[in-house]
Amino acid sequence: MAEPRIGGDMTAAERVLDRADELASHSDLPDGIERVYLSPQHRAANDLAARWMREAGLVAWEDAAGNQCGRRAGAGDQLPAVLLGSHLDTVPGAGRYDGILGVLVAIEVAARLRDAELPFALEVVAFGDEEGTRFGTTLLGSRALAGTWQPEWGGLTDADGIRLADAATAFGLDPARFGDAARTPEELLAYLEVHIEQGPRLEDADRALGVVTAIAAAERRVITYTGESRHCATPWDLRHDALLGASEAILAIERVARAHGSYATVGRIHVEPDAVNVIPGVAAFSLDLRDETATGRDSTWERILHELEAIAVQRGLDLDVSSTHLAPEVVCAPELRAAFASGIAATNDRGSDEPMELFSVAGHDAMAVAAVAPVGMLFVRCRGGISHHADESVRADDVALAIDALEAAVLQLAAEYQPS
Ligand code: GLV
Ligand code: MN
Ligand code: MN
Repeated sequence: MAEPRIGGDMTAAERVLDRADELASHSDLPDGIERVYLSPQHRAANDLAARWMREAGLVAWEDAAGNQCGRRAGAGDQLPAVLLGSHLDTVPGAGRYDGILGVLVAIEVAARLRDAELPFALEVVAFGDEEGTRFGTTLLGSRALAGTWQPEWGGLTDADGIRLADAATAFGLDPARFGDAARTPEELLAYLEVHIEQGPRLEDADRALGVVTAIAAAERRVITYTGESRHCATPWDLRHDALLGASEAILAIERVARAHGSYATVGRIHVEPDAVNVIPGVAAFSLDLRDETATGRDSTWERILHELEAIAVQRGLDLDVSSTHLAPEVVCAPELRAAFASGIAATNDRGSDEPMELFSVAGHDAMAVAAVAPVGMLFVRCRGGISHHADESVRADDVALAIDALEAAVLQLAAEYQPS
């Protein structure tokens, strides 16, 4: 059995950072990073990842949903696989590492284990859509791999009205065959994802790495207040201003979510008729609500809804709420948490004998893959906890530790593996 190569391979870490820079140059924004599903930039990113996968000794292919995949050549064609990966798509104005780091670290580990004797196959995946930036619905790539692709998603449209099915055809895929990307539980032993923390807890604790216990339960909604659009000369008492209702509601959401330890974000708002001298008749806004458990999320929502209804009554507005995304919490598999804990311990980094455990507020491909395989995640410290922003930053020595820890985790799984 191969031994993990511990000691902080800075050459590999620098290669990961250089590759992240190269991927960042494939953006559809002139002054920032944005790379969305089924775009020319997605094509360029897949081509780069495929080249790096081949250099790491993997056989590379693109699956039916546009995920870039690789598998250790010749190593047990019939064996079930341990799958390593993350995503290559980004939010608008993104940093260089959200998702990307996990793909690049996985490729480094595959390269290191190129000649190792493993009792399972080893695969790497670079998912095409985790963020949902282009078509509004998230985790499209990982849900296709997990076999939970919904055929009606072909009809989703982007901001320019382009249907997902047409974007897929232009990308070179057959939209009718997205379901073929599905993998079975028999094919996948485990999914391991490395990701930047996207929060400050590791940095606050002076730790480079942490083991993820679970990924937060989330729900996204569109909340619409409808009042009356009128001339701005209308007296106060006759107004039914939808935007004032929404404004009060957004502050109430912050108050309730803070009090209950949930995470709530209103990131988008739409006003009609959107004119300087007309009282807004319609205000529709998004709400992304997350909590460690679905029960916690739902009880926070009950309290929020109570406030939203009271505001509607008090201001004489109609209230409409629709749900656009619902995800339960996903608990990381105990054996994969243990593998990552022993992977971190093998790095001999500060405090690595007692690895920090933390839950993920951010959503990840692992949430989708959990439908088909046990999942485990390793978090890497990022400066200031900043993410979904151009200032996202990771330290090269932390990346070196992450490569060591992921390799050691895979070898730990190999040592314990009992074929059924
Ligand atoms: C993705 O980054 C999410 O947490 O929404
Ligand atoms: Mn993200
Ligand atoms: Mn991500």
